[in-house]
Amino acid sequence: MAKRTVLVTGATRGIGRELVKQLRELNFEVFATGRDEALLESLKAETGCLGATCDLADAGAAVALYKKAHSALGQIDVLINNAGFNSGKDPVVEVTTEQIDASYAINFRAPFLLAREALKEMGACKSGHILNVVSTIAKTSMENYSAYTTMKYALHGFTQCLIKEARQVNVKVTGIYPGGTDTDFRLEDRPDYMKPESAAQMIVQCINAPDDVVVHELVYRPIIETNF
Ligand SMILES: NC(=O)c1ccc[n+]([C@@H]2O[C@H](COP(=O)([O-])OP(=O)(O)OC[C@H]3O[C@@H](n4cnc5c(N)ncnc54)[C@H](OP(=O)(O)O)[C@@H]3O)[C@@H](O)[C@H]2O)c1
Repeated sequence: MAKRTVLVTGATRGIGRELVKQLRELNFEVFATGRDEALLESLKAETGCLGATCDLADAGAAVALYKKAHSALGQIDVLINNAGFNSGKDPVVEVTTEQIDASYAINFRAPFLLAREALKEMGACKSGHILNVVSTIAKTSMENYSAYTTMKYALHGFTQCLIKEARQVNVKVTGIYPGGTDTDFRLEDRPDYMKPESAAQMIVQCINAPDDVVVHELVYRPIIETNF
């Protein structure tokens, strides 16, 4: 059987890096991306994945990345829109225009553009799987996280629409809603949060669901999380 192929964004650190390791162990062909060249090269050396750096804040670069990954892999069976960031805790009155624009570009526009490109290809083949890593923040709300929360709600809304369009062409779509995970995403260590390998393992389970099953939403948290 041909190896399944995956494009993973946000692969240099955290959940995405663990995803690449686990998918490579399961014999997937993986194209990994992030901005940090040294981290990407070490991941390629460690796992044998393919990859290229890309700043997803640049819309044109995001679309070009899809084409680059497609030509490197031959086809893309699975897209994992995992890259995301939060600039920190800021009350609404202190959020800058630049922070709003950056959060929009990376947390919402880039996954939309990559999913659009993927659906064109996958829809034509009548197979494929797009996974958008949202957050449990899109199931609640918190003070001082307004820009990030707003963009994750937007990604949640987009994912719900995508599910309905993609199913018409036999393409699976999964919204992933992890809770607190102990990664570089936050400055302080949180050993009571989920390990990135655990968060990644749950996503891999959705990719490996039986052919006749699609997981539309996966919501999971560390046991200590109670803000819902
Ligand atoms: N950690 C949590 O508690 C948590 C909870 C819920 C949801 N999530 C979501 O899970 C996903 C992964 O987060 P994580 O915790 O693994 O975070 P992380 O450790 O900070 O990793 C984030 C990844 O995104 C990439 N990235 C950030 N900005 C980018 C840009 N402009 N262009 C390209 N790549 C960019 C980073 O790569 P470079 O640094 O190399 O650019 C890195 O590989 C995110 O979507 C996040 O919102 C996280």
